[in-house]
Amino acid sequence: MALYSEKVMDHFLNPRNVGVIEDADAIGEVGNAKCGDIMKMYLKIENGIIVDVKFETFGCASAIASSSMATEMIKGKPLSEAEALTNKAVTEALDGLPAHKIHCSVLAEEAIKKALEYYYNNNKGE
Ligand code: FES
Repeated sequence: MALYSEKVMDHFLNPRNVGVIEDADAIGEVGNAKCGDIMKMYLKIENGIIVDVKFETFGCASAIASSSMATEMIKGKPLSEAEALTNKAVTEALDGLPAHKIHCSVLAEEAIKKALEYYYNNNKGE
């Protein structure tokens, strides 16, 4: 059996939304101390909607595929939906990850949560 699903391979080889948003409203950076991989998410937010999202991932295939899928899942969506996104949902959307690679999808969830936290802290009272 193949280690990675077709969807994982597709998002790894053709990652969506790679890059930087220069005037991002929110940035979240997280890392995994064990493997040393780093993920950075940039969000552009207008009227409570994520109008654009980009990521940079210095990491393994699963981390790249997870960030790519996660960005697709929150693009155009309200902040509440991005907040509720779990690594489990990302993994399911990728048709699964090998058990020892689940932590890679956690990075995607955490990077989005961190970006949202940054946004809320910097836009209090808006
Ligand atoms: Fe580090 Fe995948 S091995 S994120």
